[in-house]
Amino acid sequence: MCGIVAYIGKSKNGSQFVFQGLKKLEYRGYDSWGLAVKPLRSQVLKVEKHIGKIGQAKTKLPLSSIAIGHTRWATHGGVTNSNAHPHLDCSRKLAVIHNGIVENYQEIKTELKKKGHQFRSETDTEVIAHFIEEKLKTMSLRKAVFSTFKALSGSNAICVLDSKKETILACRDGSPLVVGIGKDEYFLASDVTPFLKKTKKAVFLKDREGVVLKRHGVSFFNLQTGKKKRIKVKIVNWEVEDAQKGGYSHFLIKEIFEQPKTISKTAELNREVIKKLSLKIKKGKKVILLGCGTASYCAKAAEYFFAHAGIEAQSYGAYEFLPFARFCNSKTIVIAISQSGETADTLIAVKKAKQKKALIAAIVNAPGSTLERLADFTLPVGAGPEIAVVSTKAFTSQLATLYLLSSSVKGKGDLGRKKIKSLDKSLRLWFKNGIKEKIIKLAKMLLDANDIYLIGKHLNYPAALEFALKIKETSYLHSEAFASGELKHGVISLIQKGTPCIALLDSQKKIKEEVLSSAMELKSRGAKIIGVAPFNSLVFDYHFKTPDLKELTLIPNIIVGQLLGYYLGLGRGTDPDKPRNLAKSVTVK
Ligand code: M6R
Repeated sequence: MCGIVAYIGKSKNGSQFVFQGLKKLEYRGYDSWGLAVKPLRSQVLKVEKHIGKIGQAKTKLPLSSIAIGHTRWATHGGVTNSNAHPHLDCSRKLAVIHNGIVENYQEIKTELKKKGHQFRSETDTEVIAHFIEEKLKTMSLRKAVFSTFKALSGSNAICVLDSKKETILACRDGSPLVVGIGKDEYFLASDVTPFLKKTKKAVFLKDREGVVLKRHGVSFFNLQTGKKKRIKVKIVNWEVEDAQKGGYSHFLIKEIFEQPKTISKTAELNREVIKKLSLKIKKGKKVILLGCGTASYCAKAAEYFFAHAGIEAQSYGAYEFLPFARFCNSKTIVIAISQSGETADTLIAVKKAKQKKALIAAIVNAPGSTLERLADFTLPVGAGPEIAVVSTKAFTSQLATLYLLSSSVKGKGDLGRKKIKSLDKSLRLWFKNGIKEKIIKLAKMLLDANDIYLIGKHLNYPAALEFALKIKETSYLHSEAFASGELKHGVISLIQKGTPCIALLDSQKKIKEEVLSSAMELKSRGAKIIGVAPFNSLVFDYHFKTPDLKELTLIPNIIVGQLLGYYLGLGRGTDPDKPRNLAKSVTVK
């Protein structure tokens, strides 16, 4: 995925706005970045492109009231200056930025080359600029842009700047775009964070919609009919401060420490929808849980929540769901979990389930997403903007929301809400108790490890999976999680003298005993056991105490993983907010 930002309006600092806005969207891609600016009183586009992260970059851009910018996560063409966006047509009057993949770009490129168009990059995006230029020979700008976009296959969002006409046009089909409506100024971006400071009025473009932005107005279009559309302006309730670091050195650590507030907030959300959904589940609907990466571990944990409520739910990594989609029908509820609501694999799985008449519930953080639009029910988790690429607070809010739903299914909705609400206090108290120093001590112990293994059982098994992912993503250290019961079936052969193994536990007696005896088996083979649990044990070589929250202990246990990933990352010299090779949400197949 990539980040798109555009500005048109009364300000002469439009180019600076776009430049700063790109910094907010850097999480969407950080291979390279670039801007196209129409300077005041000039029609000659000024284009600037750079390899690498925009984070600390400074640049001198001309004053301008029309500008577009892009931060790239490379798909077609290597990470080079010439492959960075924007891309221009032959006349250099049109600049195009793009998020997605143009699946048929080779065919289009061949045709355009025959017509004499000169290409300067290896990207799929550049064909869009030349295709529009070609069409402009016979049609208006709007028609040329819209019909070009319709000819592209794949999931795409494009933004086009015409320097001559002083117009910005954009289209979406499968990749997000949102328009900010200010006073005599308009913004366009991949999410709302670049323009939150300026306006909270937003229009989330739907698939197959287009928009034309001019200095004095904005019009929306249905791309299929080409006709103007009336649109609904939404008021975004995210705060500007939520998208800033607020004194922390990284978004990741800020977002980890926000969790007491964000988790407990979920207790107040979605009451009506939870009631409706739990009624349907109680009446016998089959529950399927879907997500990718961290969201798939949330789905796995929810399987156990539902089992405790007497419901047999089944979770899948959305990327593996298609062979099983055929078993969906009108008696199935598919609960799709996603921070962004834009993950291609999740959307594909949901669309398939929908075709089979399954009811779709979306547990989602970002507002106005594609997933939200596909769903019959949406449960926004309200964690606020999650800027760090690695998911933390959105995940725990999703988990809390599913806990609330399963509690309601069990007929214990009020108790569930009370427990989630009380996490605010218990987690804050735990944080205050020297957590940072303890984590740093643990991180120092593990800094030079080659491998870290984790074990957990039942709810602490998905917790261990997520814990291991946080370490991998943030510090690039190899860590692998197993269900503790799995060890003796093969995995134990990996253990050598000194291998660090982290055991995640809660205080439930029977499970605790089983996991401790698995840990003992590891210890007997030379492993160094780190217990993350509300209690200490002789088996542990090192104990990291977490608060005893009964079945919800998995939450602080996972937070230890988030913090450990962060401090290991710092110790190993990674950028915790932007791990290599990753993008915040994977909007391509
Ligand atoms: O936006 P989504 O929750 O759908 O994203 C799903 C995964 O791509 C995401 O959780 C990924 O695993 C993150 N890198 C986790 O930190």
